[in-house]
Amino acid sequence: MAPQISPSILSADFARLADEAKAVEGADWLHVDVMDNHFVPNLTLGVPVVESLARATDTPLDCHLMIEGPDRWAPQYVEAGASSVTFHVEAAAAPVRLAREIRAKGARASMALRPATPIEPYEDLLPELDMLLIMTVEPGFGGQAFLDIMLPKIRRTRELISKHGLELWLQVDGGVSASTIERCAEAGADVFVAGSAVYGAEDPAQAVRALRTQAET
Ligand code: DX5
Ligand code: ZN
Repeated sequence: MAPQISPSILSADFARLADEAKAVEGADWLHVDVMDNHFVPNLTLGVPVVESLARATDTPLDCHLMIEGPDRWAPQYVEAGASSVTFHVEAAAAPVRLAREIRAKGARASMALRPATPIEPYEDLLPELDMLLIMTVEPGFGGQAFLDIMLPKIRRTRELISKHGLELWLQVDGGVSASTIERCAEAGADVFVAGSAVYGAEDPAQAVRALRTQAET
């Protein structure tokens, strides 16, 4: 699959979200980080903001739920207009049931792994998913340094996806920038979340295009 870029609005100006979404038109997705101050030590936004954002932009929303109780909440993000919903496996009570529910409601189902969570125990679950997210920083904050030690996990996951002949997308999130995206792509990632590297740039739309070009090489 051609590489896709998903700019994270965590690094945008929250008082101007509609404009900030427009500033990255041309991106494949808009990454929306939902944090509850329990699963991660930070608090961002919830269902009403996602509903408004879905009305404000044509770019599909890629909601990354860093929350406890995703089994209860994830379906509401599909109803709010998210095209892809990612829950953390560490927080989900019943990941297979949840992935099926997200799909049944009409969104892409995605599961995230914190840096310390291995992929191997979840190999049999991969066919239930449309995307797997490998965190390349500890979830919670933008602007952190990329964890190089995640590269072997990305590689192993790509091997498992190929072994099972799956269409699963492999997303990376955290510290993805002009200086790290090529390593991620080479290891097998194909969907790239970038917060500070896009919204910290003078021209966010140009930063998206530059990242995509780099990921293609
Ligand atoms: C962090 C979030 C990321 C964050 C990435 O927990 O999940 O999506 O916005 O920010 P950067 O790209 O700045 O590391
Ligand atoms: Zn994220």
